[in-house]
Amino acid sequence: MNILFQPFNYPLLQLKNRLVMAPMTRRKSPNHIPNQQVAEYYRRRAEGGVGLIITEGTVIPHATAHGSRGVPSFYGEALVGWQTVVDAVHKAGARIVPQLWHVGSVRALDQFPESTVAAHSASAIAHPYLGEKAFLPTAMTEEDIYDVIQAYVTAAMDAKKLGFDGIELHGAHGYLIDQFFWDYTNKRTDKYGGKVLAARTRFATEIISAIRMAVGSTFPIIFRFSQWKLGAYDAKLAQTPQELESFLIPLQEAGVDIFHCSTRRYFKPEFNDSSLNLAGWTRKITGKPTITVGSVGLDIEFQESFLGVESKTTDFSNLLERLENEEFDLVAIGRGLIADPYWPKKVAEGRMNEIRPFAKHMLDSLD
Ligand SMILES: Cc1cc2nc3c(=O)[nH]c(=O)nc-3n(C[C@H](O)[C@H](O)[C@H](O)COP(=O)(O)O)c2cc1C
Repeated sequence: MNILFQPFNYPLLQLKNRLVMAPMTRRKSPNHIPNQQVAEYYRRRAEGGVGLIITEGTVIPHATAHGSRGVPSFYGEALVGWQTVVDAVHKAGARIVPQLWHVGSVRALDQFPESTVAAHSASAIAHPYLGEKAFLPTAMTEEDIYDVIQAYVTAAMDAKKLGFDGIELHGAHGYLIDQFFWDYTNKRTDKYGGKVLAARTRFATEIISAIRMAVGSTFPIIFRFSQWKLGAYDAKLAQTPQELESFLIPLQEAGVDIFHCSTRRYFKPEFNDSSLNLAGWTRKITGKPTITVGSVGLDIEFQESFLGVESKTTDFSNLLERLENEEFDLVAIGRGLIADPYWPKKVAEGRMNEIRPFAKHMLDSLD
């Protein structure tokens, strides 16, 4: 059997196969509430055979956390919408976790929903992604940090109450948690900052430990991180495997169960002298299960897609070899699952030539 369709037997999270839907913001939740259309969108992906769905980024209950219109909240009335989503996905045979999100300073001046509220970040440094439109954030005080940690805890507990199968923390791509990791945005001299990468993991480790305390030892915590940032695609947190280790071990010790290693091309070696990708290194260092992602089955990476370049489906036998070799455990598919909810079923049945390739216009609707 194709290894993608072998079960994932991790004690805390059993999945019917190795395929994960990558978290993808769709901005289709009016007033930040996921509606029936959103539930149908996720249900179709579950019916299409994916083992685990990671929802689009959904915002924790804190006034500073939102970045743009149409992005779902994870509090208040939105939780009723999320309940419908969870139930629909479970009924269709997949598991689902919400991706908990705080955008930090990635809030364009003309876009953030509550215009009287300042943007938060590790330091008062405008995010490079937004250029001229960047909102100058305020550096979080210890009290702000405490409040935001509590908001993550509340969201994680709500996820558990609603019947989600775990949570994913969005620690990637230059948003709030990553703004603490990244030396460009974190110039703090207190215990949340420092010259070495390990010193800048403290905000994340406090969030993870606080969630772990609140949800208990059997509710899975997935942690997504990346080297690249929005607006700084060549940025790197860790330049060497040793530096990566200094970053990962505190997160692991705080209570991460599964690492989701966000790269744009899964086949790119992360460091010299080894073919291992970021998920491969992370598994080797931590011994924890990892999720790989990035251009699986598509010939171009997602930024090119956003520019309107057309993509074609491609062979991914190299991915299967890596999975066989236990370089990583799970494989996330992003654009492929927007384009074709039945991607997993078609692959399982060897109908590769029937898979619809991704095109940018598909982002306009929630089919
Ligand atoms: C439309 C779109 C929205 C995305 N939104 C998110 C998001 O909310 N959170 C996140 O961690 N990554 C987000 N990503 C990145 C994807 O999760 C994934 O890592 C990326 O698309 C690479 O996978 P792919 O090559 O299979 O598309 C988004 C990507 C796309 C295409």
